[in-house]
Amino acid sequence: MAILPILKYPNSRLREKAKTVEVFDERIKDIVTNMLDTMMDAKGIGLAATQVDIHLRIVVTDISEDYSSPIIFINPEMKITDDTPKSYTEGCLSIPGIQEPVERPTEVLVNAFDQEGNPFEQKYTGLMATCIQHEIDHLNGKLFIDYLSPLKRQLIRKQIKKNKSK
Ligand code: NI
Repeated sequence: MAILPILKYPNSRLREKAKTVEVFDERIKDIVTNMLDTMMDAKGIGLAATQVDIHLRIVVTDISEDYSSPIIFINPEMKITDDTPKSYTEGCLSIPGIQEPVERPTEVLVNAFDQEGNPFEQKYTGLMATCIQHEIDHLNGKLFIDYLSPLKRQLIRKQIKKNKSK
């Protein structure tokens, strides 16, 4: 088990596009284990490999209270199945201390592989729909604050500088 350091905004490596996992081997299983440990340690509900400076298409999530229901997504592909906008107040382990409402489609259909390389397909609504969209964005170098207005982003950058200098 290992807790990996989480890249913090505005680190430019958060903007890298992650590569497809080609081989499901022990290395991938180790990455998944370490990502789950890191997510739990940071008390998050989702973590993308990009955030721990591993640029592969791997996401781990667990929205349960006691971390009893991890879901692993490798090479996730997402289709919007209900584009009704739904607003959730989002946060991100790479942008500590900042929480802002973001509107995203209500329902998505996700195709992915688990850490053994088994494909699965699942529809998500509610918090899990928001979570998986947020995490897939990470794999594409996108952050939730990118959805906010330029003014709001400027305020957040100022806030982060202030938090750092404390
Ligand atoms: Ni995030």
